[in-house]
Amino acid sequence: MTKVLEYDDLALIAQGHAAFQLLWSGVNLNVFDYLSEHPGCDFESLRAGIGLELQPAKVLIIGLTSLGIIEKDGDSYRNAEVVEQTMVSGRPGNMREVLGWQHHICYPGLHYFLDSLKQNANVGLQHFQGDEDNLYARLAHTPELEKVFQDAMSSLSNTANELLAREVTFDDINHLVDAGGGVGTNAITLAKANPNLRVTVFDSPTVCERANANIAEQGMSDRVDTYPGDFFVRDFPEGIDAIMFAHMMTIWTPEKDTELLKRAYDALPVGGKVIIYNMMAYDDDTGPKSAALGSPYFLAIATGQGRLYSWQDYEGFLKEAGFSQTVRKELPRDHGVLVGVK
Ligand SMILES: C[S@@+](CC[C@H](N)C(=O)[O-])C[C@H]1O[C@@H](n2cnc3c(N)ncnc32)[C@H](O)[C@@H]1O
Repeated sequence: MTKVLEYDDLALIAQGHAAFQLLWSGVNLNVFDYLSEHPGCDFESLRAGIGLELQPAKVLIIGLTSLGIIEKDGDSYRNAEVVEQTMVSGRPGNMREVLGWQHHICYPGLHYFLDSLKQNANVGLQHFQGDEDNLYARLAHTPELEKVFQDAMSSLSNTANELLAREVTFDDINHLVDAGGGVGTNAITLAKANPNLRVTVFDSPTVCERANANIAEQGMSDRVDTYPGDFFVRDFPEGIDAIMFAHMMTIWTPEKDTELLKRAYDALPVGGKVIIYNMMAYDDDTGPKSAALGSPYFLAIATGQGRLYSWQDYEGFLKEAGFSQTVRKELPRDHGVLVGVK
């Protein structure tokens, strides 16, 4: 049974654009950093701290207070606890980069959501330079946007990859390919957590260059490397015994995901593993919100094909690709891991 919608919930949805811009501006004007350093301060001190004139300060601070992002008790302001944990600069797990991706990439692209639904295509891609059919390839034309995107992916991975390292056994894996491994955030964390593990990041050439710089900076070049190319075209490296798709399978249709998993199956030895790590939608199509609200981006912008799939969708793709055993593991923040064994 889905939750009953109240008027207040509907108002928040209808004015979601304003709610997001209040949060984004709060981050960029250092409201949350200021409140973290001066909890309990009054309006005038907060206004002076963030350097706004009276009228805009009222608009911002009343907006943030009404949303519960900051809390007002008498004349004193402070960050909501979850904001203190996720929006203050320099804190591990902060979501500031993710908001940057939403502001610079998701917002302009989702303007074309209705057309994308009608045409079953990523009409929002027209906002981005280039003539390729997907966002990832087009971002290579705009390095500053590619950086915004990769910083957000790394930040999302940072909050999730410690869980992955902790919750999934890599003891019996010698050489893992991180397919679509981005700038190497997952690969570096996993290699650090598993001293016998070798990890190869398989991503596009421009992204691999960024990964190479990170790998060298972290002193991990002896066990982490890159393999540039398109994994629908280039074969997986030889001698591997596991392939991970972290935040990847949401990009494409079920047919393309199955094709990719078949390519992975063919590249693995018997007993080899494929690891799908993602936000997982419920099997009964009711949520969670984090997954359901992620799907429009894939349809309208990224590729025009994907969405956030459920556990049983992935199990179906794995079975179709030939994997016999699958194991589910639920993780916090609506994430999960599915392991398929050849
Ligand atoms: C959503 S990001 C996921 C990044 C990373 N796995 C993570 O969990 O943060 C998708 C990544 O897949 C890469 N990618 C997309 N299509 C690809 C393809 N056909 N071949 C290789 N890499 C691809 C993109 O460049 C991007 O780095």
